[in-house]
Amino acid sequence: MADFNSLDEVADAVSTCTKCDLCQSRTNAVPGIGNKESKVLFVGEAPGRSEDLRGRPFVGRAGQILTEALEKAGVSRRDVYITNTVKCRPPKNRNPNKTERESCKDYLDAELRILKPHVICILGNVALKSLLGDDKITSKRGNIIQKDDMLYFPTIHPAAVLYNPQLAHTLEQDIKKLFDIIQLNDGAVN
Ligand code: URA
Ligand code: SF4
Repeated sequence: MADFNSLDEVADAVSTCTKCDLCQSRTNAVPGIGNKESKVLFVGEAPGRSEDLRGRPFVGRAGQILTEALEKAGVSRRDVYITNTVKCRPPKNRNPNKTERESCKDYLDAELRILKPHVICILGNVALKSLLGDDKITSKRGNIIQKDDMLYFPTIHPAAVLYNPQLAHTLEQDIKKLFDIIQLNDGAVN
């Protein structure tokens, strides 16, 4: 694996990556983006159509919902770092498969090693499965999970709110709780 020294180096490598088949169908690879001092790393599933077209994570409808939930917690999305378990869009937004997740994992690992977030906010079941091998987002969401010296905070995927608008409140409550916990522990969000 390449020995990345900065988040920019990771992003550059992602932009031209051909390590798995998703490189053939993508328009743009979608590197992580955001505040390099963020104490929270948000990890989504994979880029969707808007993200593929623009090469940036969470810029479509799900992204709008995430942005609004952050703002309700008093946090600008520019203050946090946002990435995905795989950096290229799977055709028709299918779930990324095991080979794709494994091929792409070096980049997520590098992002973690360099950013050193205090908490990883897991967005939805696919990211939960990928990071913790668990697929019970409904029962795990809204609480800190500690594993191997890392803190995780799973919540629902913002896209779930598109299908069930009542879940907007759940996402907003969880994100507010996450930043309340961080402030209690650190005295500051960033
Ligand atoms: N959904 C995701 O999981 N990630 C994105 O970047 C956009 C939508
Ligand atoms: Fe490379 Fe990840 Fe894109 Fe596959 S999904 S081509 S491993 S950046």
